[in-house]
Amino acid sequence: MPFYHRLGNLPRKRHTAFQREGGGLYHEHLMGNLGFSGPASLLYHLRRPTAVISARHMAQAVIEEDPDPALRLRHFQLMAVRPAESPTLDRTPVLFNADCTISFVAPRATDPFFYRNGQGDEIVYVAEGQGVLESEFGELPFTSGDYVVVPRGIVHRYRLPGPAPGEAACRLLVVEGAGHVRPPKRYYNEFGQLEKHSPYCERDLRPPEKLVTHDKEGEFRVVVKQRGGYHDVLLDHHPLDVVGWDGFYYPFALSIHDFEPITGSLHQPPPVHQTFQSDGFVLCSFVPRMLDYHPQAIPVPYNHSNVDSDEVIFYANDQFTSRKGIAFGSLTLHPGGLPHGPHPGRVEESLGKKRTEELAVMVDTFRPLKVAASVLTMEDPEYVRSWLTS
Ligand SMILES: [Fe+2]
Repeated sequence: MPFYHRLGNLPRKRHTAFQREGGGLYHEHLMGNLGFSGPASLLYHLRRPTAVISARHMAQAVIEEDPDPALRLRHFQLMAVRPAESPTLDRTPVLFNADCTISFVAPRATDPFFYRNGQGDEIVYVAEGQGVLESEFGELPFTSGDYVVVPRGIVHRYRLPGPAPGEAACRLLVVEGAGHVRPPKRYYNEFGQLEKHSPYCERDLRPPEKLVTHDKEGEFRVVVKQRGGYHDVLLDHHPLDVVGWDGFYYPFALSIHDFEPITGSLHQPPPVHQTFQSDGFVLCSFVPRMLDYHPQAIPVPYNHSNVDSDEVIFYANDQFTSRKGIAFGSLTLHPGGLPHGPHPGRVEESLGKKRTEELAVMVDTFRPLKVAASVLTMEDPEYVRSWLTS
């Protein structure tokens, strides 16, 4: 996790009586991951986080799979995902396996409820738009190009500006991991600090800025995702009632524009672009950078057979040095078992080039991904043949 952080008021010692003005005690709450040995924070609530009026099952999150299992290179145009109401419940599934689900959403409005993903960590890439992530840990503003990382268990809500009628307030690519999402271990030294060779440092990781304590009683809905379904939990108070917290567990943002590219005289392999790791997948950022500077360098990648992983690329602008026919909002799937490489002409065009302006998010999964039926109408059926020269 990022680093120790604190906001608001805390008792001098943990697990001690923290007196409220006017009498009574604040309610201490440990929140973290990986049992009692993983990253965690201690929060102090005005009211018991356990004060539930009612709970009911809403629906299971069942994703229908593409019935055609033919192995092929695929391209989906996600700008065709229609604006919908909710940033949390109206996500269109794109690809999925047991380790991660990749979805896309173009929400119009702030949810009238709060959301807690109890079964997965979420990396939300803001492709377009801006807003504020409200959570128990405070307010975290975000804008296009940000990764907003929300570890499991955190009650939150995306506060979005009102868009024009029928328009989306923002566009979000959501990667939900069954495992814990964190910066790659090799970026850390033995003291828990990001190393000098890491493409970002602690200063680039943005924790919540401002703690807002909502002192309100009444009925407040929290939609909880757990056990593959959604559950409607009604509290007797506002869930964002924290007066102080500290620790290593909280939502944070990292701008893709703060990712410092690692370049070389010859082509650098994808691990130099790695941004986050989880269990069963990694996430990488391709950002504008100087291209390879050996006089005979081929700056675009060689053909490669990533036989043990599926490679997903979301194109965050309309430029990608090795590929043609993609646009902002495109997403390609290059499954393991098939080689992939630059489109015809791209190697020759790249010779002698000094820079690329590409901006893309890559997810490599170690187990095969399934395609969701919900994106079949957005598929470019000609993509599989787009490496033919005639
Ligand atoms: Fe690749």
